[in-house]
Amino acid sequence: MSDKPKVFVTREIPAAGLEKVIAACDADVWPEHLPPSRDILLQRIAGCEGVLSLLTEKVDAEFMDAAGTQLKVISNFAVGFNNVDIDEATRRGIRVGNTPDVLTDATADMAFALLISASRRIVESQDYIRAGKWRTWEPLGHIGVDLIERTVGIVGMGRIGFAMAKRCHGGFGMKVLYHDKYRNEKAEQELGARQVDIDTLLKESDFVSVHTDLNETTKGMFNAAAFSKMKNTAVFINSARGPIHNQRDLHDALKNGEIFAAGLDVTDPEPIPMHDPLLTLRNCVIAPHIASATVSSRNGMAEIAADNLIAGLKGEPLRCWVNRE
Ligand code: DGY
Repeated sequence: MSDKPKVFVTREIPAAGLEKVIAACDADVWPEHLPPSRDILLQRIAGCEGVLSLLTEKVDAEFMDAAGTQLKVISNFAVGFNNVDIDEATRRGIRVGNTPDVLTDATADMAFALLISASRRIVESQDYIRAGKWRTWEPLGHIGVDLIERTVGIVGMGRIGFAMAKRCHGGFGMKVLYHDKYRNEKAEQELGARQVDIDTLLKESDFVSVHTDLNETTKGMFNAAAFSKMKNTAVFINSARGPIHNQRDLHDALKNGEIFAAGLDVTDPEPIPMHDPLLTLRNCVIAPHIASATVSSRNGMAEIAADNLIAGLKGEPLRCWVNRE
């Protein structure tokens, strides 16, 4: 029997972090491509002092009960932690860690890639070629929307929102509006950003890009009423969390021409079911939640997640500690 602390790692993560975990812990690493079922998860967590979880795992009171009172740390391999019941963990004295910063640029790059793809109809054009429809150069075909000197509306001006705004302003001279409960003076000074109420942002923006966390206030905030306030030339981007938009309402807004296009890195649910009507629309570009999928981001996330786990097991401060207060 090992004298190292027992931990469950719910999926294989990059070696940059996994090797540290294996060296420091008695680690049970879930080896499969798909996450463990709920039943298996609850069995495997029993008796563990730590868990390295992904956004696919619901870490709630039932999970913590199944683990037992020796559970000291939940290290989430993501910057977002809406899958973890933070209040419950805090009440039980369990430390929760996340992996911010290392994925900021990669996520903003992805949001911007979606913005260009949806605006310039790139995926739709490729489908057109693959379907054998490209017969000639078309003066009236494939017309998209312009980017230069337009207005971007950032919902959630945190680290990733700022990085997205910087790309839009610095690269394309866009005017930046933002909606956030906090003022971001850096964005105002460096990018000339203007904090506005949500209705103003929806009404005046050519591109609306979501970078807020998922919580009770933001859940479903992009619904039929919100889409109806946007320009019919507007492009909606969500690289944060799927449930922030109402997927049926987004479908209807895209289909009825209330907005021009959408680019999503996140859907509700994930994976998006193959029968979801959004998949039938040409003006919606969808990626399978890959914004942080670059070498440096994923290695950085793995290192932070490992460091958080090991620190929590030793009762030391976590490198990125969500419930420190
Ligand atoms: C996160 O970190 O929250 C992303 O959604 C996945 O990298």
